[in-house]
Amino acid sequence: MSYQKITVIDFGGQYNQLIARRVRECGVYCEVVPYRKITVDGLKKEPPAGIIFTGGPNSVYLETSPHIDPEIFEIGVPVLGICYGAQLMAYTLGGRVSTAPTSEYGKTETFYDKKCVLFGDEMPDSAVSWMSHTDYISEVPEGFEAVAHTAVSPVAAMQNVRRKLYATQFHPEVNHTEFGLKMLDSFLKNVCGCTGDWTMESYAETAIREIRERVGGGKVLLALSGGVDSSVLAALLAKAVGSRLTAIFVDHGFMRKNEGDEVEAAFRGWDINFVRVNAAARFLNKLEGISDPETKRKRIGEEFINVFEDEAKKIGRVDFLAQGTIYPDIIESGAGDAAVIKSHHNVGGLPEHVDFKEIIEPLRMLFKDEVRALGTTLGLPENIVWRPPFPGPGLAIRIIGEITVEKLEILRDADAIFREELEKSGVARGINQYFAVLTNMRSVGVMGDFRTYDYTVALRAVTTTDFMTADFAKIPYDVLERAAARIVGEVRGINRVVYDVTTKPPATIEWE
Ligand code: XMP
Repeated sequence: MSYQKITVIDFGGQYNQLIARRVRECGVYCEVVPYRKITVDGLKKEPPAGIIFTGGPNSVYLETSPHIDPEIFEIGVPVLGICYGAQLMAYTLGGRVSTAPTSEYGKTETFYDKKCVLFGDEMPDSAVSWMSHTDYISEVPEGFEAVAHTAVSPVAAMQNVRRKLYATQFHPEVNHTEFGLKMLDSFLKNVCGCTGDWTMESYAETAIREIRERVGGGKVLLALSGGVDSSVLAALLAKAVGSRLTAIFVDHGFMRKNEGDEVEAAFRGWDINFVRVNAAARFLNKLEGISDPETKRKRIGEEFINVFEDEAKKIGRVDFLAQGTIYPDIIESGAGDAAVIKSHHNVGGLPEHVDFKEIIEPLRMLFKDEVRALGTTLGLPENIVWRPPFPGPGLAIRIIGEITVEKLEILRDADAIFREELEKSGVARGINQYFAVLTNMRSVGVMGDFRTYDYTVALRAVTTTDFMTADFAKIPYDVLERAAARIVGEVRGINRVVYDVTTKPPATIEWE
């Protein structure tokens, strides 16, 4: 089946991906396209069910600002303009956009006209919306009417029902806008006529069919890291091509306790060629004497490729190399000039010495939460689907200084205890990433009647939405206390536990 589609035209706004995710939460498929790549002819040829203009950082009056062919409003496809997109619609259609007497930023009380289909009867007369603008629409274009206002903005939203054109100065996609998701949903369902046909079950069916058509009788090779993306990809390919898939799981020996076995257990039962390469010795060898974090990363990345290539050579020529690229990796900002498409690699770059004809990236249109939903649909176990982010180089960048077998064992045990205590107490659910770090520092302690001189373990737990900024998690003292007592009691080589209470910035989430 093919889905009804919304085209999100990106004018360089900071929330472009968020808009797309919200649209998909409403069960509607959408694609983000930079405004430079949009042509009216293209839209006419394959008209989407609706168009959404994102915000953008500029003023419509700047010559360098993004503009749009006015004919886009004539093709009969509904349009919703958001923030800059709203101003652009007003400006292009002959309304007036001016500098607001005061900028509105953040939560703003907004008064709604409930006859507008975006708002509807269930909404209160006023509610909080999220604003972020210095210009505003001071006069609506001909044929439009204002349908929301704030103390500052006479036109916080406007509509032209006949032409199916709508605009909001505020950001309905941001959580702080009360009823924002309902507004988007109403635009999609009541204005664009979308039925909500984007479900993971139907996506899985379509993706499996498309992979089969493309791959034919060919062979597919996949580097399986055990992370969410490559695991879901393996499951999808397994359903699509079965034993013509070879998944090479390079176990670099820096995974958490039992993790390598969990990955193996998750894939052993599938009808694919699953190859686990226990390469811990090779990696340790490569890292001998190395304590600089960037050198560690580089060497692990290189060795990952080496091991993968060595295994791939045993298989010989394959037709397709599968990559776990996901949508956030390929969305370009509408403001950017460069058409760079990033490839997603958990550990290193692309192998140079693997003989393949083409790359396939079946997850390239999915967001992370959709990848997880797909994994569940395909029957992957929860511990894989809900695996928290784990850096490609693994525990190697959580051991400060040189890596040894002994240090790896200490860290694995301490980390497992910390995670177990957080999970058991229910605290883990509100935390986005949590782990232990083995510092390179030893200090004096006393155990029984003996003096000890052992390592200090640091515990790190953060809350974050984007991993660009993070706060340390306010873990209850009793949970920290239990974890610390168990770690010093059960793990030989540790006599001190500290909790990292720095935010990012200035610290980072990982210690290396
Ligand atoms: P930082 O430490 O930069 O981490 O605050 C932000 C997020 O990125 C993860 N991270 C990595 N992921 N390879 C990866 O695949 C790496 O080398 C790497 N370093 C950090 C980190 O775990 C956190 O989620």
